[in-house]
Amino acid sequence: MKKLIDLIQEELVKAFTAAEMDPSYARVSVSNRPDLCEYQCNGAMAAAKAYHKAPIQLAEAVVEKVTDHSVIGEIEAVKPGFINLKINPEFLADYLSKMQNDEDLSVEKAKNPKTIIVDYGGANVAKPLHVGHLRSAIIGESIKRMGRFMGHNMIGDVHLGDWGLQMGLIITELQERHPELVYFDESFTGEYPEEAPFTISELEEIYPCASGKSKEDEDYKKRALEATRELQQGRRGYRAIWKHIMNVSVADLKKNYGNLDVHFDLWMGESDAQEYIPDMVDYLKDNGYAHYDQGALVVDVKEETDTKEIPPCMILKSDGAALYDTTDLATIIQRMKLYKPDEICYLADKRQELHFVQCFRCARKAKLVNDDTVLSFIGFGTMNGKDGKPFKTREGGVMRLERLIGEINDEMYQKIVENRSVKDTDARGTAQIVGLSAIKYGDLSNQASKDYVFDVERFTSFEGNTGPYILYTIVRTKSILGKYKEEGNELKKGALLAPKSDSEKALMLSVSRFNGVVENAFEEKAPHKICAYIYELANEFNHFYHETKILSEQDEARKASYLALLDLVREVLETCIDLLGFSAPERM
Ligand code: ARG
Repeated sequence: MKKLIDLIQEELVKAFTAAEMDPSYARVSVSNRPDLCEYQCNGAMAAAKAYHKAPIQLAEAVVEKVTDHSVIGEIEAVKPGFINLKINPEFLADYLSKMQNDEDLSVEKAKNPKTIIVDYGGANVAKPLHVGHLRSAIIGESIKRMGRFMGHNMIGDVHLGDWGLQMGLIITELQERHPELVYFDESFTGEYPEEAPFTISELEEIYPCASGKSKEDEDYKKRALEATRELQQGRRGYRAIWKHIMNVSVADLKKNYGNLDVHFDLWMGESDAQEYIPDMVDYLKDNGYAHYDQGALVVDVKEETDTKEIPPCMILKSDGAALYDTTDLATIIQRMKLYKPDEICYLADKRQELHFVQCFRCARKAKLVNDDTVLSFIGFGTMNGKDGKPFKTREGGVMRLERLIGEINDEMYQKIVENRSVKDTDARGTAQIVGLSAIKYGDLSNQASKDYVFDVERFTSFEGNTGPYILYTIVRTKSILGKYKEEGNELKKGALLAPKSDSEKALMLSVSRFNGVVENAFEEKAPHKICAYIYELANEFNHFYHETKILSEQDEARKASYLALLDLVREVLETCIDLLGFSAPERM
């Protein structure tokens, strides 16, 4: 469906044309003075210069040409030359009725669907998931869902960090503890055991232990580096251990991401790109893109217009080892080959921006992507504690994701139990659902690039701009709908009548903006715009709800209209939170 604001603009285009003015001046926007009007057009002010006339004269000329009021209900020229508009309430009701019966809820799906890979999550295998990975997962999941909703072919890839030094560290520590294991016997040629020589909790203990040792013990670190190199070169026993590490950790990661309602289409990682490296290196050398600089193989990526120094992209270290740049470039080659994406969108800490600038430039320069392939980077800020420093545990340690989720759920559980008398099992499940909304909404309501303070108290509140408040509003609509149905009524979709009160009209106008908001939020990859929208919508709804007797309304047609509106509000809110990556409970 066309956007409501565009339909209004079309009417004004006709009027501008009839008044013999350039229709490009007929731009309509949502009013910034809702006390005076709903929409406004400032075109007469802009046109005054071109036509050498007073803006008010032009505005009046336009207003005079609007004779059909079926779309624009009221129109007025006000000094110095604004055009103030109000929509015809019948038209608004009709628009929402159509929206309710539209299978895409008024959203126009992409005419040319694109294939877009979203590279997010970015967990490092065998290292614990910490809050730094939370933002990548939450924002990426939302962008993926928005794109899918708009009709694009979205491919989410977790892009695991599964090929680095952490693997060598684990191997080294394992060898220190269990030198007798068959994996360390280089003469062994048989089959390695199917069972991993460790559990996930052992693994979680081994990595920090090894990492700590390597910082204190030079020799230990050397051995870990050597083990990493041998693993990468294919030493059989090390590869077998690596597979065990992968199996054990990936199962655990799947569980953790599942708890966050984050789901990847691809579980690929840095290791999967390795096979593309040798050919890539030859290609970059043979075509003159790469050259040796002090023993290292590099590609220059600086451009004349740079205002700051952009160092070259590092392809190989002087000892021949591949780096982060190398892996990401090889991954681009792999993705172009396997999925032919129109766009690859990366989510990572904004401190990684330079790395992505270098990689993107190198990929373009060396034609690893097509000229029109979009490479985009969404760098997010840090999640801080109330002290303004990166979020830590109360004892000052790195906050593990599992623990954070656990703490939020406990907090939510307390609040829910205080609030009402639901059975214990019920309250636990509800606390989980509401807790997730607190975390995700708390994160997504901030612009991604900004740092923000993770305020447990505020994020879990049922009031204010929070996830739980949005869910509370949804649950309220559901409960009224439930009562209506219990009374033996059936919901009549599309039964909306013209609004009777200001609060009802304001609510309806807010609902009508849904398609425009979702489209724009995806275009700008800005989930925070959806948050801002549903906060406004929830407020409008609660305002309407407090002013209106819904279930006790005597006029049946009016009552049916209220319920249809209520159900539409519910559907819009539920669709929006799904795009943000969480859902609402039945009650709370
Ligand atoms: N594993 C990386 C980290 O923990 C993030 C990966 C981001 N994606 C990428 N293609 N480089 O910092």
